[in-house]
Amino acid sequence: MQSSARNAPEPALTVLLTADQIRDRVRELATDINRAYPAGRRLHLVSVLKGGFIFLADLVRALNRQVTIDFVAVSSYGPGTHSSGEVKLVKDLEIGIEDRDVLLVEDIVDTGQTLAWLRTALRARHPRSLCVVSLLDKPSRRIVEVDVEHVGFTIEDRFVVGYGLDCAEQYRHLPYVAVLDQRVEDPGERGPDASNGDLEER
Ligand code: PRP
Repeated sequence: MQSSARNAPEPALTVLLTADQIRDRVRELATDINRAYPAGRRLHLVSVLKGGFIFLADLVRALNRQVTIDFVAVSSYGPGTHSSGEVKLVKDLEIGIEDRDVLLVEDIVDTGQTLAWLRTALRARHPRSLCVVSLLDKPSRRIVEVDVEHVGFTIEDRFVVGYGLDCAEQYRHLPYVAVLDQRVEDPGERGPDASNGDLEER
């Protein structure tokens, strides 16, 4: 867990994606997704908690079709704050997905480990189709190759917060995505080059 205690200054936020940019891109994503499915086909959106909740709320209102919605929560475990790639189901789906057109809604794909695990787990339940939309993608951090059919923004390896994404559960409410500049003076703490995966509590 990163901390601003022990005389370290408050982290600074630098806006990376404005609320307007996100709104426009969400509309484009919705158009692309609508075109990818036959008219009249109901989509079953599965949002990955917690980070995907704001993106889901905006996306579902931009989609021009019938949808159903469910949520799943997973955790990654490893030594300290580093993910080992071991994923555990924290909250299962409430609605069966067999023969449904499932659209998995993620806020960010980083190492790809969470999404790879989820794709396998969902595929085993025999949906009619399974696609992924992620607001953000950090391909430079990838450990596991994984398909992401719809990507909002491809970003560099910076620690980002806002629009659902957190740092120690803060900043999720921000209407924009910002880079968290962790100006830490204590050499024992992690510096600003750490990625989301290194800093977030898992
Ligand atoms: C984030 C994000 C993805 C995952 C991606 O969730 O929502 O599910 O990390 O990381 P990966 O590609 O390296 O596996 P997080 O574990 O931070 O939980 P949260 O959404 O509850 O903050």
